[in-house]
Amino acid sequence: MKVEKTNKVMDKNDFSDLDIDQKVCELVNSNGYKRPDLIQLLQDITAEYNYLPEGGLRCVSERLGVTFAEVYSAATFYKAFSLEPRGKHIIQVCVGTACHVRGASRILEEIERRINIKAGETSEDFMFTLETVNCLGACALGPIIVIDGEYHGQMTPAKVSKLLERYTVTKRVKAEAVAI
Ligand code: FES
Repeated sequence: MKVEKTNKVMDKNDFSDLDIDQKVCELVNSNGYKRPDLIQLLQDITAEYNYLPEGGLRCVSERLGVTFAEVYSAATFYKAFSLEPRGKHIIQVCVGTACHVRGASRILEEIERRINIKAGETSEDFMFTLETVNCLGACALGPIIVIDGEYHGQMTPAKVSKLLERYTVTKRVKAEAVAI
């Protein structure tokens, strides 16, 4: 039942809201999901689109035969789910106590400066979403950030800057290729 992730860039220009709802409905109807699969289905939609569009949640409700309120409740209960479109790359900065005393705020500031958004925001091109979390359970490695599920410990502003180059350089190269 696990859906293979295609690592799609959620560029708002790619699809209208209707397109996205339709694609999510296709996913919902394609894998024989049953009522007990609600969380798995929400995870699969998130893995594919990085968020849970409302129209897609209505399809989930119809497909599984559960009320929309129940689907909505599950979708808003877990922090891993978002009802808002999120970027292709999810950056999480731990601001828990152990990371905080080791300079997490400087790491966060450097990331905000590099990708030009604040914590809690998604970049206009839907490349990045920046989030803060309270403890990732790896305090000894602090300050720590997670990008797309990959942990990066003992961060410094210089290291984080270098790390982000991977993503911003790829984007710049693509933009230059389009301009040629
Ligand atoms: S406080 Fe950052 S990992 Fe625990």
